[in-house]
Amino acid sequence: MLDFRIIEYGSCDYHEMVKLRDEVLRKPLGLTFSEEYLQQEINDILIGAFHKDEDNNTFLAGCCILSPFSEDTVQLRQMAVSPALQGKGVGRDIILFAEKSATENGFHILMMHARKTAAGFYEKLGYETDGEEFTEVGIPHYEMRKRL
Ligand SMILES: CC(C)(COP(=O)(O)OP(=O)(O)OC[C@H]1O[C@@H](n2cnc3c(N)ncnc32)[C@H](O)[C@@H]1OP(=O)(O)O)[C@@H](O)C(=O)NCCC(=O)NCCS
Repeated sequence: MLDFRIIEYGSCDYHEMVKLRDEVLRKPLGLTFSEEYLQQEINDILIGAFHKDEDNNTFLAGCCILSPFSEDTVQLRQMAVSPALQGKGVGRDIILFAEKSATENGFHILMMHARKTAAGFYEKLGYETDGEEFTEVGIPHYEMRKRL
């Protein structure tokens, strides 16, 4: 059972989020987050999916960020699911929640720079590639988008 919450920048939940993102998205590439990078997300929509285990302990199962890109378009960034919970539908539920949040905030297009290795995941959720492959954080990506 997942409990979705909007995470407040700088809160305890935020620090748990940065830790998960670091583990899933940065360490495997030999990278870390800089303070300047993190400061830029102060006005973003920070989404957390929390999981409760049998002992009622709550922990962050996955997360993503929505960054306003233009009046119509919001960019999904930093999509990460805890390694132990990958492949169990958590990522799909996060995207569905993110799409709902984007619509509620007045956006009509959701766009992302998808890692090539994750493009199939977004395709299953109705996203289409737009343009050529490009490199970001040293690995191949595609821009993908969907009209909500
Ligand atoms: C990619 C990621 C976010 C997907 O979340 P998840 O919880 O593992 O995925 P789900 O279980 O919700 O999968 C939903 C569907 O997508 C498929 N899928 C999941 N990951 C996939 C991938 N990398 N490539 C192709 N299909 C994938 C699943 O098989 C499932 O298909 P089904 O509907 O036929 O059963 C997660 O695995 C992750 O954090 N990976 C490492 C970091 C990463 O790549 N982040 C994305 C950066 S752009």
